[in-house]
Parts: sequence; structure tokens; C-alpha cells
Amino acid sequence: MGFEHTSVMPQEVHEHQNLKPGNISVDCTLGGAGHALATIKAILPGGTLIGIDQDLNAIHHAKKILHPFKENTLLFHSNFSDLPTILNSNGIKGVNSILLDLGFSLNQLKNGNRGFSFNKNEPLDMRMDIRNDLTAFEIVNSFPESELTSIFFKFGEEKFSRRIAKKIVEIRKNTPIHTSSELAQIIIDIIPAKYKFKQRIHPATRVFQAIRIAVNRELEQLEKFMQTVPSLLLKGGRLCIISFHSLEDRIVKHALRKFENNCTCPKDLPICLCGFIPQMKSVFRKPLVATKEEIKFNPMARSAKLRVAQKI
Ligand SMILES: C[S@@+](CC[C@H](N)C(=O)[O-])C[C@H]1O[C@@H](n2cnc3c(N)ncnc32)[C@H](O)[C@@H]1O
Repeated sequence: MGFEHTSVMPQEVHEHQNLKPGNISVDCTLGGAGHALATIKAILPGGTLIGIDQDLNAIHHAKKILHPFKENTLLFHSNFSDLPTILNSNGIKGVNSILLDLGFSLNQLKNGNRGFSFNKNEPLDMRMDIRNDLTAFEIVNSFPESELTSIFFKFGEEKFSRRIAKKIVEIRKNTPIHTSSELAQIIIDIIPAKYKFKQRIHPATRVFQAIRIAVNRELEQLEKFMQTVPSLLLKGGRLCIISFHSLEDRIVKHALRKFENNCTCPKDLPICLCGFIPQMKSVFRKPLVATKEEIKFNPMARSAKLRVAQKI
């Protein structure tokens, strides 16, 4: 079976990565390797592409796609928060560009057989990296009601978090909840009809997003990675990050703000005396979004936000 995924905002990413032949470039989220393929072509001759994905299927696929460029490619089945260690152990002191295209691929959703989709009847797993211990099954069937409520509310911004958590706990007392469709049906049944039919999205969308974020510790990994960004880039190097929901974008925006302007001097002081030295500069204030044409052709681009920053 082929790998289903269409890269989001490919032109914008390509333009803002600012790549040149000979560059060292990192794709932290290989997925279908669409962005990675464009990147490697732009940095040849002489460049090196470092590709990372925590999903082994994505690594296998990327190996095939990038095979013609294998002399210039290093691939790692790893979490992008491990990038400092990966660069260190390969003797790389800094890179010219880093790309993160967050979240999941269409392939994981459609062909993963890991319960990412509420439209499929699959085991509740949701791990992108199957070497990790925590699964969606464990969260749904063993986390206390209060913790479920908090996950649904914090990571899914789900209005009916409390009700859904209560129902899950009630049902699992009799029999464990094994599959994505069992869980989706519980959510559909508990959400009041007037909200269910008013929403543009499937009623289970938010809870599934919340569980996926919790299983993969997505926000934690992103925060950990963001702390390290300035130390990974060479001067003039670019960071491009595509996020798909406000929780991710907030982490990226706040981390960049801290590297850009964390001066603690009183506002009326004419010069900075606190010793803050900016490390990064955002290339544009507001994130870029996909064009209407792209969204028509690739609905996954609908909620994409691209932020770009440069190492000073
Ligand atoms: C949206 S897809 C990337 C698509 C890719 N840019 C393309 O052009 O096909 C996101 C990928 O990132 C991977 N991923 C998500 N979080 C990760 C993390 N913390 N570390 C490594 N890989 C991650 C997922 O497994 C998935 O394959």
C-alpha cells in the first residue's frame, strides 16, 4: 500500500527555508517525505538532509523516497526532541534549517490501524512510536475520571469533558473500551443533539485529538524541543514550524518570543541594561496560512499555521 499524505504549504516552506547547495537541513517530521524530497533537491550538491520521524512506517517510506539521495541523507527513528543528541553524536555543530510539520499524517489516520480515526473500528492505541508504553487503551480504561476530564478539556478544549469522562468510567466498569468506534459511539451518544448537529466537525474530533496528544506527549516534546532551537541552528539558519491547533502554536509563539525579546528592563529605559541578547528573529509577526486554492485541494491545510524564525 502507498503512503497517503499531501505536504502542507510546500511552496511557502520551500521559500522560507532559504536553502542553498551544501546546506545541512533537518526535517524533524518526515511523514510522507514530501517536504524532505524538495529539501534534499535544494541542498545538492554537497548538502546533508537529516530526517527524523517517531513512526517507523514513515522512516521505511522515507528510505524508499529518498533512496536516490542516500549518500546525502541520514534518517533516524526518533523523537525530534532528541535532535541535540542526534547532532552531537554525528559531530554536527549546527544546521542551516529545521522543519517541523506537526501532528499526524493522513497515512497514520487512514492506514495506521492504531485507532487514530473515529471513523474506523481499530484497536485504541494512538502511539506514533510503538516503542512507548502508554496507549490510548490505557488512558481510556485506567485513568481516573478527573484526569480524563482534564485531558479532554486541556488538549481538546472539549465543552462536554466532564460528561464524557463520567460516561467512559461508567461503561468501563462493566467492560473495557477496546476500539476507536466504541469510543466514538460513547461520545456521540453523550453529546446533546443540539450541539452534535450544529458543529462542523465530528462530535468525537476533540476527544480523539486530546487522547492522541496525551499518548504521544506531543506538547511536552514540542516544549522540550523549542528550548534547544537556538543552540541547534547556525547563524542565519531558519526554523520553519507548521502547527495545526492553538495549543501547539502557542508553545511555538511563546518560545520564539522568549528568544527574541526577553528584556526585563523597565519600558521607559532608553537602552537595555539587563544584558538580554536576542538569539532569534521572527521572519514575520503573524503566522502564514494556506491559500484557499490549497485548502480546496488539500483540506488538511485548513488549520495549518506556518511560523518562521531566523537565528541571529
Ligand atoms: C504531518 S506529518 C509530516 C508530513 C511531511 N512533512 C510530508 O511532507 O509528508 C507529521 C509526522 O511527524 C511525525 N511526528 C509527530 N511528532 C513527532 C515527534 N515528536 N518526533 C518525531 N516525529 C514526530 C509523525 O509520526 C508524522 O509522520
